[in-house]
Amino acid sequence: MKGIILAGGSGTRLHPITLSVSKQLMPVYDKPMIYYPLSTLMSAGIQEILIISTPKDLPLFERLLGDGSQLGCSFTYAVQAEPKGLAQAFLLGESFIGNDSVALILGDNIFYGTGFQSTLQNCTNPEGGIIFAYEVQDPERYGVVNFDPSGKATSLEEKPKKPVSKFAVPGIYFYDNEVVFVAKSIVPSARGELEITDVNKVYLEQNKLQVKVLDSGTTWLDTGTFTSLMQAAQFVQVLQDRQGLSIGAIEDVALQMGYINQNQHHKLISLFIKSGYANQ
Ligand code: G1P
Repeated sequence: MKGIILAGGSGTRLHPITLSVSKQLMPVYDKPMIYYPLSTLMSAGIQEILIISTPKDLPLFERLLGDGSQLGCSFTYAVQAEPKGLAQAFLLGESFIGNDSVALILGDNIFYGTGFQSTLQNCTNPEGGIIFAYEVQDPERYGVVNFDPSGKATSLEEKPKKPVSKFAVPGIYFYDNEVVFVAKSIVPSARGELEITDVNKVYLEQNKLQVKVLDSGTTWLDTGTFTSLMQAAQFVQVLQDRQGLSIGAIEDVALQMGYINQNQHHKLISLFIKSGYANQ
């Protein structure tokens, strides 16, 4: 399975801190934001990853992450000239995806949970699409999924004014190769974007969409506002300092997954002795 990280947008809700630097390069405690979704894809077993960002920001991501070989991965890059929606990622990434299945993760979505890694690993060969649902207090900010009493997903809506459920759809999605075809078939929404929710609706209508409810054992963090960005940083800091865990550390995930060996890992993190990152 291939992976795509979409790290575009103008980060208007974080202006002025994102006026000159991409939101997905903002620090979340001790690492750039994109490390978290990147480590999520890597921990799912995905090593071939396309990173999509704006023409202005893409070189910064390349400088940060290189070609991925240092992590036993392969990173390639593509420009999204204008914010034309999440589903555009499948059009921009068409040749990268080739005949494979593909996972899309948003560059500002942070996930953490002990069982989450195996949940993801079970999604890497999807027949149709697999998305998640997560209960939140403010569903109107997200794609929202509704279920019938038997637990079957019945409808999906993008940022509804009056949400019919509290289940938001987090920014990680798994699809079979059909997704390229589906993305080509949808039209831009009122806000001028190819909506991922519209892609998911096509899969739902065809009865090919699995919606897995994430329980409270998994944390899904938002980084879209000053407050939530700060809270995400505090969450990472508290867990790392208290439990000695590393969250979102791409070098550690590469080692744990066997993409690199101990020596390579040591070499990578020894570059970060002074900051303390290497001691996590
Ligand atoms: C996007 C999607 C939305 C999803 C959310 C997750 O929203 O459109 O369906 O729930 O990501 O972060 P946006 O980032 O455009 O606000």
